[in-house]
Parts: sequence; C-alpha cells; structure tokens
Amino acid sequence: MRVLVIHGPNLNLLGERDPAIYGTATLDEINAMIEKTASELGMRVDCVQHSDEGSIIDALHGARTVCDAIIINPGAFAHYSYAIADAIASISIPVVEVHLSNLASREEFRRRSVTAGSCRGSVCGFGAHSYLLALRAVAQTPVK
Ligand code: DQA
Repeated sequence: MRVLVIHGPNLNLLGERDPAIYGTATLDEINAMIEKTASELGMRVDCVQHSDEGSIIDALHGARTVCDAIIINPGAFAHYSYAIADAIASISIPVVEVHLSNLASREEFRRRSVTAGSCRGSVCGFGAHSYLLALRAVAQTPVK
C-alpha cells in the first residue's frame, strides 16, 4: 500500500510555532514517526509540505493514480478552501484529514472544516499521533 502525506501551510514551522498548541516536534521528526509507523504497517509513504493551495491540489491530483490513500493536514485551508475540498471530492482514493490540534476546542473560525466533508474520515487533537492514527485508519480502509 502506498500513501501520500500532505502537510499544508505553516506546518514547516512545527517545533517553533505555538508549541503549546502544536507540540515541540519538528516536521522532520513527525515525518520520521510517520515513516516508522508506515514501515511497521508494511506501507510505503511519501511526505510532502506545500504552502500554497495550487501545489496541494496538484499533489492530490498526482497521487490519485499512483497511491492507494492520502493523508492531508490542510492547515488553515481546511477552514475556507473549497478548491481543495473539490480536489479531494474529485479523486476516488480515500483521503483522511488530520489536524494536530482539537479544532472543536479552538477559535470559532477553526471549528469548521470545509474540506473534511470530502474526506473518508478525520483525526484531530492527538498532536503528531493524529497522523499515526490516520495511517492505521487507511490501513483498514477499503479503496472506494
Ligand atoms: C492545524 C489547525 C489549523 O487551524 C491551523 O491553521 C494549522 C494547523 C492543526 O494541525 O491543528 O495550520 O491544521
């Protein structure tokens, strides 16, 4: 099983950005955790980070024929990007949305994800472990 993990804008600053909310692990450290769990699950994983909407959409489109599933943390795009929501809805492989923080307990504008409804499911609030739980979820998720 081949999985693409897409990290959205500002996640490249993990470790230094709001550590009380997002934790102290850097993106490289989180990617190492993802790679370790993926290898334990017998998956092949690629991790990418994009700060702009178009690159995230291109990554979703590009993965649709070569990957079995996608895990995405759209960052703040989750709250307003109908273009990313449409891109997720346009591909048939399962997509799981991940957030480090618990959106339900944060500012009003973060409580709604416009992208989550196009996804097979979501995991949020478990810090870096949200990604690892999402890997376990896609391992159990049949392709559409
Ligand atoms: C985030 C939550 C978003 O609201 C925020 O804009 C982020 C990170 C999370 O992982 O908790 O960049 O997606």
